[in-house]
Amino acid sequence: MGRISDEDIQKVREATDLVELLSERTRVQQRGREFWCCCPLHNEKTPSFKMDPATQLWHCFGCGEGGDVFGFIMKSDEVTFPEAVRKLAERARVDITEDAQGGIPNSRKQRLRDACQAAQEFFHMRLMRDPSDGESKARSYLSRRGLGGEVPKEWMLGYAPGRGLMVNHLLAAGFKPDEIVEANLAVNRNGRLNDRFYERVMFPIHDVSGECIAFGGRIIGDGEPKYLNSQETPIFHKSNVLFGLDKAKAKMASTGCAVVAEGYTDVIAMHEAGITNSVATLGTALTKSHIRMLSRHAGKRIVYLFDGDAAGQRATERALQFIDHDSTPEAGRTQVEICALCLPDGMDPAEYLDIHSADDLQKLIDGALPLLQFGIQKKLERHDIGTAEGRARAFADAISVLAPIKDSILAKEYAISLAQELQFREDDALAQLAKLKPPRMYGDEAEQESASGNASQMSEMHLTEEASNRAAIERELLGLLVNSPLEALPFMDGIMKVRWRFGAHERIANAVCGELASNLNASPADLVRHAATADANAASLLTSIQRNPDIPLEKVFAYLLQEMRIGDMEADAARLKSQMHEAESGSPDESDLFQQLVVVQEKLVRAQKERVPLV
Ligand code: UTP
Ligand code: MN
Repeated sequence: MGRISDEDIQKVREATDLVELLSERTRVQQRGREFWCCCPLHNEKTPSFKMDPATQLWHCFGCGEGGDVFGFIMKSDEVTFPEAVRKLAERARVDITEDAQGGIPNSRKQRLRDACQAAQEFFHMRLMRDPSDGESKARSYLSRRGLGGEVPKEWMLGYAPGRGLMVNHLLAAGFKPDEIVEANLAVNRNGRLNDRFYERVMFPIHDVSGECIAFGGRIIGDGEPKYLNSQETPIFHKSNVLFGLDKAKAKMASTGCAVVAEGYTDVIAMHEAGITNSVATLGTALTKSHIRMLSRHAGKRIVYLFDGDAAGQRATERALQFIDHDSTPEAGRTQVEICALCLPDGMDPAEYLDIHSADDLQKLIDGALPLLQFGIQKKLERHDIGTAEGRARAFADAISVLAPIKDSILAKEYAISLAQELQFREDDALAQLAKLKPPRMYGDEAEQESASGNASQMSEMHLTEEASNRAAIERELLGLLVNSPLEALPFMDGIMKVRWRFGAHERIANAVCGELASNLNASPADLVRHAATADANAASLLTSIQRNPDIPLEKVFAYLLQEMRIGDMEADAARLKSQMHEAESGSPDESDLFQQLVVVQEKLVRAQKERVPLV
């Protein structure tokens, strides 16, 4: 397997029609020049998946995903880009040649996977067969914990002896030192490779298709760190992986439900007890990307199981941010329901199953509260509702949970029932609700800092109104640019000069403009693919724009650029003003700033006078 040439990718793209492809899988309806269907990536009853035959791009307004034909196959069939190209090539009967040498990126990843696989087998054999001391201790440790019998085989558990034994094994098997290091199986100490994991019980981490991509290594007995995990590698991104998903997906599909726990051992214990739709995050909070992955397998319900109250509180606060307008009945879609549950006495599922039956746990899972209700309940528990002040505080605290959906009927219902519970007047409750400020969510992968390195702008989740308008304008400009590159040409000068306010937008703009500069004929789908390599959310963002066909494109481009220029000047003026405030009065700095401000203000006034409305 090697690299697929751009020409071949292009051939496959041209031979594949998006609408036809989707029609093979689901019922597609035409509306105007667009085609719509129910999104195959999640469960829904009314179509929110839009296809544009002209650009060959799709977007689902339900789950927010979008992209080109390859992106669709990657998401729906959960395959890598080259595999998607191969699949579509086969479907369209296009011959592609794969060049074996040049194929660094993908064959490289395959090498890393192979290295993990080889390490997994090595660790496993040590655990199962080796008579040495460490291995024997590991075996008895696991049996003591109820992880004996078939469990090690079932989960490919292993033992890492250390002392360079694993590295030697991999070198002998033909892996190169840099591959072993890049897979994070060894660390380079002054030119010597040391096993990253030693004297630990190894829990291999698999991707959704069951391939080993990383490890968690548990210390035997007490010690720090309890678990040592693989760091992020080219094949392992924590926030996109769930432990056990390869084993859990079948039951998730048949029941529509998923259970998410915190620990590896919890997942194993639950599967052993027959709760085989369970997975765990890898020591991180649940992210929106996890939820999206899960909802592809479990369309109805995701139950988030917390070990203890403290962790539950924290995780709930984060998870509540996933609740948005889409979760309310007005959104009109069948959305996966997210529920939450804290086990009693701070137990984790494995501990709970030590003393209770699987049925007991299943009953708790079935009775888990919807996240909103759970969040409200957790807030109420923090207050003493025996006193009037306590009730007032409890009320204010609990109602804040509803902020993201404050205008929905659901929020009103919750507010009213809260009022009843805390002996408030319903009108007051509704008034308080109306006063809440909805948090502005920007980007959805706030958790993915480490994975995509875009922490800086994603941490600005709560944007001011001005910033969120700006974000929308930038998004629209990028979307139009990509969807109608030819029409955008006359505006390229202006577009190149835009001061992008958001890192992700800047990266996308650079990727798109760079590609257009070298290839004026780049198609929308090409541009989306290039942008997707620059930013993980690019495909979704670029395909989400909705155009009003009654307004000529050149007017829209001119308008967006004009609004951004005015916005920049306003921002400059505001910045200069606040700098003047801080400057010493009468200082040269102050007068310098004042001069600059005058210039900006003049330009701003002129621009506002000449401002052309969109319609
Ligand atoms: P727990 O401490 O609850 O681990 O952490 P556990 O799975 O119940 O482990 P046992 O039963 O004591 O062996 C939950 C998860 O948090 C991550 C791991 O993914 C673990 O499964 N974790 C925990 C770490 O990554 N590092 C640590 O040091 C501890
Ligand atoms: Mn635990």
